[in-house]
Amino acid sequence: MEQMDGLDVVACERCEELCASRSRIVNGVGPADADLLFVGEAPGANEDEQGEPFVGRSGDVLDDGLREVGLDRGDVRITNCVRCRPPDNRDPRKGELANCREYLEAEIDRVDPELVITLGKVPAEHLLGRDVAVTGEAGDVVDVTVEGEPRRVMVCVHPAATLYDPGQKETFASTLAKAADFTDGESGQRRLGDY
Ligand code: URA
Repeated sequence: MEQMDGLDVVACERCEELCASRSRIVNGVGPADADLLFVGEAPGANEDEQGEPFVGRSGDVLDDGLREVGLDRGDVRITNCVRCRPPDNRDPRKGELANCREYLEAEIDRVDPELVITLGKVPAEHLLGRDVAVTGEAGDVVDVTVEGEPRRVMVCVHPAATLYDPGQKETFASTLAKAADFTDGESGQRRLGDY
């Protein structure tokens, strides 16, 4: 795909409004062969400024949560459904999600993670293709097909949800603890049969 260089989108003009509002394209970060691939919604102001996903307050929550389960930010891959900041932090529109989907699918295909973890409602519904009650389904592993390949997706609440609603902290922490089990290739494979 000519817009991508490896896992990075290097040029894209598919969404007129996002092209006008972005400072830059915010690509995923982390190892190209990570066991865990976290997928958020879209870059916010901090991400747009720094060119990296989850570097604002949500990123701090994610980093802290990862540390609590013995992981470092650098151990996992982190990306978004949409790679350009929507104006005024609005949700990405259906057409924008669709325009960017090819890049997300290519990233999932190339990283080939043990587990994809969706952070919040938008990525959960985008990858599962249905309505998702995120708090109720957090920690569940769902089998989906992406680009013809079977993928395991774990639903997780958005890190920012723990800031608005401290009751979500436990849900977030226990979901990350379950996800961490998939960082060991062997236990990840063993679990394949469990779900
Ligand atoms: N929220 C997201 O969904 N993605 C980011 O990159 C930052 C905040």
